[in-house]
Amino acid sequence: MSENLFDNLLRVKSLFRDRRALGHAFNPEDLPHRGNEISALVNNLVEALRGHAPSNMNLYGRPGSGKTAVTRFVCRDLESKGAAEGCKIHTVEINCRNIDTKYRVLAEIGNKLAVEGDEAIPFTGWPADKVFDRVRARMQARAGVHVIILDEIDHLVRKGSEGDDLLYSLTSLNIGLLTGAFCCVIGISNDLAFTELLDPRVQSRLAPIDVVFAPYNAAQLEDVLKPRAMRGIKQDVLDDSVIPLCAALAAKEDGDARRALDLLRISVQQAEQSEVDVVGINHVRKAQNQLEFDQITPTIQDLPLQQKLVLFSILINEKNGLSNISTGEVYGTYEIACENAGERPLTSRRVSSLIRGLDMAGIITAKTTSRGRHGMSKRINSCLPPAFDALKVMHSAEPVMDDVVNARYRLQNRL
Ligand SMILES: Nc1ncnc2c1ncn2[C@@H]1O[C@H](COP(=O)(O)OP(=O)(O)OP(=O)(O)O)[C@@H](O)[C@H]1O
Ligand SMILES: [Mg+2]
Repeated sequence: MSENLFDNLLRVKSLFRDRRALGHAFNPEDLPHRGNEISALVNNLVEALRGHAPSNMNLYGRPGSGKTAVTRFVCRDLESKGAAEGCKIHTVEINCRNIDTKYRVLAEIGNKLAVEGDEAIPFTGWPADKVFDRVRARMQARAGVHVIILDEIDHLVRKGSEGDDLLYSLTSLNIGLLTGAFCCVIGISNDLAFTELLDPRVQSRLAPIDVVFAPYNAAQLEDVLKPRAMRGIKQDVLDDSVIPLCAALAAKEDGDARRALDLLRISVQQAEQSEVDVVGINHVRKAQNQLEFDQITPTIQDLPLQQKLVLFSILINEKNGLSNISTGEVYGTYEIACENAGERPLTSRRVSSLIRGLDMAGIITAKTTSRGRHGMSKRINSCLPPAFDALKVMHSAEPVMDDVVNARYRLQNRL
């Protein structure tokens, strides 16, 4: 009888106890090294339990610094304390990356506040005033304090006046539009400067308490990982060096706890795939490569054709042993690559700006150096991981690259 496709994998003994404990959606019971941030939220939101409106808040910090986790952690306790004390407290969390217009945010708040018999607010189609009026009426009917969490709010604020208009409406609720109810807005963002993008009138009405989440350092990330590893991974599976290495690598990546958890989870998966019982440093290295590749591949795939041709010109020189090449050298190869692709070459000025774009995307480095009386020149090098086959990725993403990659190039020779 033929084997089932899943048999092989099912035979491998899992090294996880509960893989979800290392996933992004897991809500930990404790958040080490976020005591100050938790206190800032608690000290303000306690007002809701006293029947007053808490101040609005802005939480800032790099990705993976615990903003969403801390907010959910505090709101969970706020709601349960509210229920125990008989205070009416409602929290509504909205991710503005997915729900990114004023209309849709208000409709979402209105629908979350609906009780049986309330009409559902449609995704689109109602006049804006009608949606806002329903939100106001439902807040008032349910009474108490409404904590509105607008996660990743920078996505909304960057969309023209959507953010201004929404915050203006929400902050107007507390100035005479509600009786027996209050509204408090918690905005969460990566961008410290995002309030500067707001209309000054909105800024002054919002008057938020700012809380800045610093990136975690390596020692702190170890403390974040340990309890989650205990819960998620079987005993004696991790070599002692694994957690410190995951923490150190993630600390270098802006102290991102999400990155640290991903590294740990994928390291264990790598060990499982190799059918060994212990996760070691080599599995962490493999996990890091996998994560890097997963991140870089779409960036390279999605480059416009002209930028792919410029990158190709840099990489093909490097592949032939030429590093620190100048813009002129890149341009020389680029012209031939364009010919092979059947594309008209851009001016060298435009190519310089495409090189700057690749530099800003972290794909190459282009350092300006002085050549004495010959003026300034660029030294251009790739900074893709050595094992990453960018030529192959570009080749499979863009059929015309077939003719470019397979052609022969007479490369610059400096000797
Ligand atoms: N102190 C901590 N203890 C345990 N887990 C943590 C801690 N800080 C963050 N995490 C975990 O790291 C992951 C990322 O955290 P979180 O989603 O809160 O980051 P964020 O600051 O909201 O990032 P982003 O700006 O990308 O939304 C989550 O799985 C979260 O549970
Ligand atoms: Mg978040």
